[in-house]
Amino acid sequence: MVIVYQSHTGFTKEYAQMLGKAEKMKTYTLEEAERQLLSDAQVFYMGPLTAGHIGGLDRSMKRWKIQAVCGVGMSQPGEGTMASLRRSNYVGDAPLFYLQGGWAPKKVGWLKRRMVNMVTRSTRKALEAKGSARTPQEQAMLDMLLHGGSFVAFENLEPIRAWLKTRA
Ligand SMILES: Cc1cc2nc3c(=O)[nH]c(=O)nc-3n(C[C@H](O)[C@H](O)[C@H](O)COP(=O)(O)O)c2cc1C
Repeated sequence: MVIVYQSHTGFTKEYAQMLGKAEKMKTYTLEEAERQLLSDAQVFYMGPLTAGHIGGLDRSMKRWKIQAVCGVGMSQPGEGTMASLRRSNYVGDAPLFYLQGGWAPKKVGWLKRRMVNMVTRSTRKALEAKGSARTPQEQAMLDMLLHGGSFVAFENLEPIRAWLKTRA
């Protein structure tokens, strides 16, 4: 199995490269993969979330044998995030994973920045209203929403690595 990923601001790329190194799997960008992989390739697909959709997923599902899929977004991981990920993305029988990446406002155009700021406004306001009652996690989330930041961490790959072991 190989890893194929798409990444606009670098968070999915970081995870894909970390996972590839840890599991000794070849890693391709979606464009490289489209030039190099044959249709029988077994692929672990990773892509960034835009309005709930995993970028590049449909292209990959049509092209290769998708073994598992991972969405990377700015939302906190949890049941709610997983439920909406499942609702908005067709992955067939493949297992679906989620990793929290980050938010890089300086690396996206003004229109996308505005869209994200609009969508996250209520979360931002609710977190701001909590004041000193914010937990460290909530503070980190608020800092990321206000200024950008990364939640990429090697430990987050654990459920994916555990799943890969069940196939070995
Ligand atoms: C226009 C736009 C829409 C986004 N929509 C979502 C979303 O629905 N859910 C989410 O968790 N993150 C969303 N994000 C945040 C990105 O998915 C997040 O920054 C991700 O880590 C980007 O990965 P990348 O650096 O590999 O491109 C959105 C970002 C942009 C610019």
